[in-house]
Amino acid sequence: MIIGSKILFFDTLSSTNTKAAILVRNEKPPEGTVIFADFQTSGKGQKGSTWESEKRKNILISIILYPESVAPEDQFIISMTVSLAISDLVDKYIPGCRIKWPNDIILNDKKIAGILIENSISGSAIKSSIAGIGLNVNQVDFPENIPNPGSLKQITNIVFDIEVLLKELLSALDNRYKTMLYGDRKNIRLEYISKLYRLNELSRFRSAGSVFEGRIRNISDEGLLIIETIEGRNMTFSFKEIDYLS
Ligand code: BTN
Repeated sequence: MIIGSKILFFDTLSSTNTKAAILVRNEKPPEGTVIFADFQTSGKGQKGSTWESEKRKNILISIILYPESVAPEDQFIISMTVSLAISDLVDKYIPGCRIKWPNDIILNDKKIAGILIENSISGSAIKSSIAGIGLNVNQVDFPENIPNPGSLKQITNIVFDIEVLLKELLSALDNRYKTMLYGDRKNIRLEYISKLYRLNELSRFRSAGSVFEGRIRNISDEGLLIIETIEGRNMTFSFKEIDYLS
């Protein structure tokens, strides 16, 4: 087992990703070390947003990785791997979860998990990768400012045992991570694409202030989103360049 060989539990942290980064800098913990917190005072989300989570209701973890065999230009494979592992776990309970590019986990049209991957790159190598995961489990009330939140309990009405779910999540991550390191990365990419939210569906997007319609068709090798517009033109977008509209 690589992921979960060591788990550090905390009652409260500012952010598990921040704590993981400090540990990597100061003592370089073994690969696969997991930082778990019951509560975060400054949880970090994508695009500089915050991640809010009620105490002891959800899974808040960061995993320390040293994926030396992944070239910096291929770093999106880490995102795909982690997204698929979470979707493996969710699918075990409620099949049909989707991945909203780049890495939101969507179930019944609600975002039930978010991923924040922070890579430290030096020269031509990824020195470390911190994979932060927030999985909404038993929380049912969310602040109004959170866009489209959901949780496993909200959808299933089951109260989940966080410890059991954590073990299952770490096992799913371990399996997928080993495939990423030693197996066929092409399959990871194909599976990720096949699970994309709104794949091939006519959808509305906004980019550079304009709204347009198109269909998500593919992901580039660098992890960019490829949309075919209704005029039949393929356009490629980075994460900061595009918003999905409902
Ligand atoms: C997103 O905006 O979708 C990404 C959210 C990532 C949240 C998790 S919670 C555990 C880890 N620590 C953080 O500060 N952020 C990530």
